[in-house]
Amino acid sequence: MDFTDKKILITGGSRGIGAAAARAFLERGARVAVNGRTADSVAAAMSEFGAGDRVVAAPGDVGTVAGCEAAVAAAIDGLEGLDILINSAGVGHSGLIEEMDEATWDETLDVNLKGTFFCIKAALAALRISGGNIVNLASDAGLIGEHRLVVYCASKGGVVNMTRAMALDLAPEVRVNCVCPGYVDTDMVRRDGIEKSHDPAAAEERIVNYAPMKRISTPEEIAMAIVYLASDEARFVTGAALAIDGGSSAGR
Ligand SMILES: NC(=O)c1ccc[n+]([C@@H]2O[C@H](COP(=O)([O-])OP(=O)(O)OC[C@H]3O[C@@H](n4cnc5c(N)ncnc54)[C@H](O)[C@@H]3O)[C@@H](O)[C@H]2O)c1
Repeated sequence: MDFTDKKILITGGSRGIGAAAARAFLERGARVAVNGRTADSVAAAMSEFGAGDRVVAAPGDVGTVAGCEAAVAAAIDGLEGLDILINSAGVGHSGLIEEMDEATWDETLDVNLKGTFFCIKAALAALRISGGNIVNLASDAGLIGEHRLVVYCASKGGVVNMTRAMALDLAPEVRVNCVCPGYVDTDMVRRDGIEKSHDPAAAEERIVNYAPMKRISTPEEIAMAIVYLASDEARFVTGAALAIDGGSSAGR
């Protein structure tokens, strides 16, 4: 899959799945605008990618409309256009319903769902010009309910169905798809889900055994699905929610 000179913005590209996607696109010749919440986190990721002027900075808090617009504007300015938007910025909070407060609800929905919508809205004119496409990071938690993840499930279920509705509105000019990972070995799971748990060994065992495939996936495995959906090889694919979850959403 060749992305030579394709112009790609990756929200949340400074870390985790977004950073793995950035590396995969850069290896295939793309030019990438990297978003993260702060200019420092973006600068650190850019120097780690080591791709010179094929990487540009597009910092901004995508939990706000102004942040979405700033990130997209910086990407379009730095890349001189836009072919592909990857919405990978996201936050996850787990806990009982009684533990979920308004701030948790707002942050989760603002970053995961509202931010995805407003980055797409800000990028739309440029994507219509290029005949581009969009890949959103949803989750298996957007396809099935999961214990202690009610707010996160609400946000990711929204991303899945928003992806479908947008695909209808934007066809045939702009394709819109999402990937639905299960547990992936990134800070979101390793640091927040395992190390901060009161019993990290038990938390890791539960996560490893969650999927029928009995392991946590790598960020690179998710990046390959993102690369496929963004590529010309997927030119007839729109409105899809592609599960990359070791079978966790297949049934119980
Ligand atoms: N890790 C998993 O197991 C898993 C599973 C399913 C779906 N996902 C989804 O994949 C996406 C990437 O997750 P990850 O595991 O790489 O997480 P991560 O915590 O490793 O990285 C998240 C990225 O999002 C960015 N981000 C967070 N809030 C932001 C904001 N307000 N503005 C701008 N950037 C912001 C961070 O800077 C970081 O670059 C998320 O949408 C997540 O919900 C992750």
